Amino acid sequence: MPKTVSGFSKFSKEEKLQWMLTSFFNGDTRVEKTLKQYWNKNEVLQDLHDDFIENTLSNFYMPFAIAPNFKINGKDYAVPMVTEESSVVAAASLVAKFWSTRGGFKAEVIASEKIGQVHFMYQGATEDILAYFEQKKADLYKVTEGITKNMRKRGGGILDIEIRDKTAKLANYYQLHITFDTKDSMGANFINSCLEAIANEFENDSISIVMSILSNYVPNCLVRAEVSCPVSDLYAENSVEFAEKFKQAIQIADIEPHRAVTHNKGVMNGVDAVILATGNDFRAIESGAHAYAAKSGSYKSLTHCEIKEGVFKFWIEIPLAVGTVGGLTGLHPLSKLSLELLGSPSAQELMMVVAVAGLAQNFAALRALTTTGIQKGHMKMHLTNMIKQLGASPEEKQFLISYFENKTVTHNAVVEAYEKMTKV
Ligand code: MEV
Repeated sequence: MPKTVSGFSKFSKEEKLQWMLTSFFNGDTRVEKTLKQYWNKNEVLQDLHDDFIENTLSNFYMPFAIAPNFKINGKDYAVPMVTEESSVVAAASLVAKFWSTRGGFKAEVIASEKIGQVHFMYQGATEDILAYFEQKKADLYKVTEGITKNMRKRGGGILDIEIRDKTAKLANYYQLHITFDTKDSMGANFINSCLEAIANEFENDSISIVMSILSNYVPNCLVRAEVSCPVSDLYAENSVEFAEKFKQAIQIADIEPHRAVTHNKGVMNGVDAVILATGNDFRAIESGAHAYAAKSGSYKSLTHCEIKEGVFKFWIEIPLAVGTVGGLTGLHPLSKLSLELLGSPSAQELMMVVAVAGLAQNFAALRALTTTGIQKGHMKMHLTNMIKQLGASPEEKQFLISYFENKTVTHNAVVEAYEKMTKV
């Protein structure tokens, strides 16, 4: 069977599956079984999932969990999280509980503007294109009126359209830089539709439109979350040393990009898990957050720490363009449920919850790294995965979990213990 195909998207799901089986698996029926065991018996639900993307063959499960006991601005949340990393939810839950007895998390949205750009080339004099823009500006708003009508009713819409001269960096390059308020929607489709209408209206014989697209760099869609407490409340013993080391870990991430990337990866463990659970776009969030971390010209920590007059303060500032209406949020039954669990929040409230999840995750990572080391907790959480890979029965699993209660978990140690146990 050839390994290339044309007209594939028009095949039925079964035909697609059979084509893949014969072309890449020699018709191995085990593969078909693996894929089909994840098909949902509820056909309506399966159809819904099939239609999210093209060429769907099966469903790829990710665990959906909740991390309870988050207190944010005095309100209690159980935070929905979707992740495959074994320690993430456990860490979030522990940290949520820890800070709930120390005043909880405080969060605020600093700004919530989105950005879109029309990129174009113009070879004439700069003053001429600037004059043309001024003359056209009202029409650019006008041409989007049909698209923005509903958004304007909700208090959003286009906030500003400006022209930016970029010719110093690239010959003949200009942009229309447009700011939007998309209220509770992430607004990608809304923004892109507006941009394309604006580009059409703006284009003339001497303006060559290159592309029109929203920007995922949203430094003005920014949220801040923080925790603080007297240093002495951090731990019963060694509080001062703990706080100092914790602060040093952040100082290191601020000056050392190798560490900063891993540090921020830990932040994103929490952020992405909530983003996924609520049906938001984690790629947009990831790219925007990392660009923000590099805004000074070198890549730095997204979190910050201060110890002043005996008070430990730890905070995050992160751009988060999220939505609580539109897109997948209302379409995926579990995203819908996640948002209900959070009390049907506005986009701004969701920004605060997500930022808190990122801050909590970073707190857990730095606490472990600067005290016991990360592997102790990680490997304990990973133990059940390793036991499963070995094919242990439920009784054997229970035995191994108790056996490792007071022992260091390593892959070798687990294999050895399993082999010893099964030899008996
Ligand atoms: C692992 O997923 C995340 C950590 O590496 C983050 C960190 O090092 O800060 C533990």
